[in-house]
Amino acid sequence: MTHKPLLIALDGPVSAGKSSLADAVARRLNILHLDTGAMYRAIGLAALQQGIDPADEQAVSNLVESGRVEVDVRFADGHQQTLLNGSPVDDLIRSQQVGSAASTVSRYGPVRRYLVARQQAIARQQSMIIDGRDIGTVVLPGARAKVFLTASPEVRARRRYEQIRGTDPAATYEAVLSELIQRDRQDRERPLDPLRQAEDAVLLDTTGFSFDQSVEAILRIVEAAYGQAR
Ligand code: DC
Repeated sequence: MTHKPLLIALDGPVSAGKSSLADAVARRLNILHLDTGAMYRAIGLAALQQGIDPADEQAVSNLVESGRVEVDVRFADGHQQTLLNGSPVDDLIRSQQVGSAASTVSRYGPVRRYLVARQQAIARQQSMIIDGRDIGTVVLPGARAKVFLTASPEVRARRRYEQIRGTDPAATYEAVLSELIQRDRQDRERPLDPLRQAEDAVLLDTTGFSFDQSVEAILRIVEAAYGQAR
């Protein structure tokens, strides 16, 4: 039996659990998961590696427009590899420093235009769940299933703190919370493609939910959008 291609847009603020939930949903539906934040992180990394201050809009824009950075993804065994100029960079893009550079460079028009076009091209090829900030509003406004994830800043900071405390003994819950609130503000208040819920997205507040309950809730939203057939 052939299936209609599935496109699921999953947006929400930092540490709402988008990436791990999207992974779990992708496994359940046997589709791919595209993490678009990784692509912004790759551009942030490229700037840092080339000694460019991420806050220097002109220099970062030149870098992208000159074709000196190329960001791509490929999927191996269902898992995304993020490529910067052909080399996998997934191990280099998860630090706070690169996350903050990504948040800064994601404000610039040339960066957004370049990555949105790439993401749309990737999504044309197969069924996917795509997580980001502007998927339901800009990248795939026509996606049938759109979820806007949220949870209180305290719950998100607690989850993030639990994730990083093993590898970063200097981390404190208070510092994580304040960085998260600042990042939320930066993502929501930027003029280009800010983080916001699409009008036809379903709001899912996972504050009181376990991980498994959140996965089930997303699957129900997808079923409601695409029907039970899958
Ligand atoms: O989801 P993340 O933390 O990996 O994303 C890193 C940064 O990239 C985030 O601060 C905002 C930006 N981003 C964006 O502007 N649009 C997207 N679709 C995904 C991420």
